[in-house]
Amino acid sequence: MANVTFSSRHALAKDVTVYAVAGDRGTILSVAEKHKIPIPFECRDGECGSCLVEVVTLTGKTMGSMLTDKEKSLLKSLGKISAAEITDAETNDVMPKYRLACQTIVRDQDILVKFAGDQPGGSD
Ligand code: FES
Repeated sequence: MANVTFSSRHALAKDVTVYAVAGDRGTILSVAEKHKIPIPFECRDGECGSCLVEVVTLTGKTMGSMLTDKEKSLLKSLGKISAAEITDAETNDVMPKYRLACQTIVRDQDILVKFAGDQPGGSD
């Protein structure tokens, strides 16, 4: 059981909180899609980085150690995770600040998910 609040200055008129069933292997991206939250994505496989989100734990123990090698190396190459954050995630189960929405499993905790999204009326 988890409330996931999505926030985006550009893509959402206001924050949207949805209820997600934890433990069903749902990712942040799949929860977003189910609720028509427009988090950008392309590969769904931890390879492109387009689904980058900032995650803030709102309640409960922070849980975030499930970083795959693929996600770690992509976040590193984007400059979005430090060696200390990786260590903290792996030894203390602390959620790093940035995650890939397609790789992050929703756990039993309330989280805030911030993403950039497209600018309304943006130029092509
Ligand atoms: S959609 Fe490509 S890394 Fe998540």
